[in-house]
Amino acid sequence: MPPTTPPKNDLFLRACRGEAVERLPVWLMRQAGRYLPEYREVRRKADFLTLCKTPELAAEVTLQPVRILGVDAAILFADILLPLEAMGAELRFVQGDGPTFPEPVRRREDIARLHAPDVDETLGYVFDAMRLVRRELDGQVPVIGFGGTPWTLAAYLVEGGGSKHFEHLLAWSYGDPEGLAVLLDRIADTSIAYLNGQIDAGAQAIQVFDTWGGLLDLERWRSLALPPLRRVLEGIRGRVPTIYYVNGGAHLLEGMRELPVDVLSVDWRLPLSRVRQIVGERVLQGNFDPAALLAPIPEIERRVDAMIAEGSGGGHIANLGHGILPMVPVDHAKAFVAAVQERSARPR
Ligand code: CP3
Repeated sequence: MPPTTPPKNDLFLRACRGEAVERLPVWLMRQAGRYLPEYREVRRKADFLTLCKTPELAAEVTLQPVRILGVDAAILFADILLPLEAMGAELRFVQGDGPTFPEPVRRREDIARLHAPDVDETLGYVFDAMRLVRRELDGQVPVIGFGGTPWTLAAYLVEGGGSKHFEHLLAWSYGDPEGLAVLLDRIADTSIAYLNGQIDAGAQAIQVFDTWGGLLDLERWRSLALPPLRRVLEGIRGRVPTIYYVNGGAHLLEGMRELPVDVLSVDWRLPLSRVRQIVGERVLQGNFDPAALLAPIPEIERRVDAMIAEGSGGGHIANLGHGILPMVPVDHAKAFVAAVQERSARPR
């Protein structure tokens, strides 16, 4: 199938473009993952990085939630940190510890250890997986490609992994902001090539994850995180719909108004109606509390109704406010998807 053929279920793509849709499209952030027994089964055969780097396996786990949950979009199985490895930073995933960079980049001199990779050579496995997913889906639902924002990618690279306070990153941001800007720009360059490579391979939308954008106040987000992010978004502009996701970023919404993206994806901390008051006429994605999927199913359904009502003032793509939690029962995830699909089906 040529990558230009529109998918049979094009609700998600039409909603991204701000068109009126018959019902809300729904997918789940991190919908391929440990809460699914089928995913855990594949993971028994391969560690996380091997899974990412084996296109057949990555394609298989990408398709699992489409089949099991009936979501309206697939998201390619990969990780936001892969381009940093391609830039020359050693990346490990230690069971239970999450990602680690044994040699963090913490000052200007360290940046020389990184290079601008040929993305086809170093990240071609992601593009191969994308092509495979497009072929196997045969147009049932669109496929989303993704990456991290330069700020969020730098957060992991500078800290050496996940962190509670990101002290190394924040120390650098206050001590030598110009030096940190050089790193963010390098990451932006690779991200532009990487995201364009995903689009060339068939990605029909791109989501950019800013998991740690909320560490910054609005003024510092504007001066530190926004310039390289804007460059990434300009570097892929006009090709496919784009989504910007920020976690814990209610205080940044005023700044997000100006972002050149089609969709703003937000967490659960502010109701969608309030988000709309701040950002104006934008398509919103979100914002179900991921922990609420642990609630009994009738409570999930009640909360889905509330989310639909809150979002009804404009374009809305139903999703979680952050990634699905590993403890979520599969039945609850299914109930969430079904509730959105049934309860939002009315003339809009
Ligand atoms: O959404 C999807 O289904 C696609 C796959 C996807 C993964 N990571 C797979 C994954 C996506 C979109 C991501 C994005 C990602 N990766 C983000 C941004 C989104 C967010 O959640 O904020 C971040 C910060 C990362 C970096 C990362 N990767 C962390 C912090 C971890 C450890 C998480 C944990 O819960 O242990 C990972 C590992 C990872 N990425 C897993 C999956 C399925 C778990 C790996 C496993 O043990 O099987």
